[in-house]
Amino acid sequence: MRKTQILKSCFTLLFWNKAKLLFTFLILLPLVLSSCKEKNYASVPDEPKELTTTQEQKVKRGKYLVTTIGCADCHSPKKFGEKGPEEIKGLELSGYPQGEELPVISRDALEKGWMLMNGDLTAAVGPWGVSFAANITSDETGIGSWSEEQFKTALRKGKFKGMENARDLLPPMPWFNFALMTDEDLEAMYAYLQSTKPVNNVVPPPIPPGKMVMK
Ligand code: HEC
Repeated sequence: MRKTQILKSCFTLLFWNKAKLLFTFLILLPLVLSSCKEKNYASVPDEPKELTTTQEQKVKRGKYLVTTIGCADCHSPKKFGEKGPEEIKGLELSGYPQGEELPVISRDALEKGWMLMNGDLTAAVGPWGVSFAANITSDETGIGSWSEEQFKTALRKGKFKGMENARDLLPPMPWFNFALMTDEDLEAMYAYLQSTKPVNNVVPPPIPPGKMVMK
């Protein structure tokens, strides 16, 4: 009698536990399913989100492009340092220094087929005459008052001041390479150049071949 009673209560306990388990399962099932559904739903957005670039990111990318492409090679005044020409701090990208005297242009070297550059690569001499690297800082005397469109016209079509009907830019400005850059990259470079320290420097106009003083 005692034995059967124990067995009975064991069965009840077992059954009761199973019933509880089933009950919990039935309660939880819709919850689990709905959370799965929500998860999937959230990972597949209805509309693609528009990618936005902040001005800060644009300037950072522009700085990276201007630096690695080497605009400063021609556009920054330099002094001769231990490892060769080094940019002069504070004058970065300001072009051929206003009022600086050109070194003597050697007729002999030019006639022998040489092209010449001054010591800091801001002036170049060749069959086109003498060209002077422009001031591309954010100053008024640089490209500070240029629109983004002007900048694109200068780099894509090689036009002075980025004006459609202006003269063509002279060598060695390699604009035809930059013409292949994406809108995004040109816009980033423009944003960076507009953020540079303004340096007041009026670069002289180019000297045509017939007016070069040679020795
Ligand atoms: C190999 C030398 C060289 C390199 C490299 C170079 N430039 Fe130039 N750039 C020049 C010279 C020289 C001029 C002036 C040409 C002229 O007067 O016709 C010039 C002119 C310009 C002008 C036109 C300015 C104006 O007033 O119309 C812009 C803008 C410019 N460069 C931007 C750049 C940028 C940005 C880079 C780098 C991505 C760059 N340049 C790299 C030599 C260079």
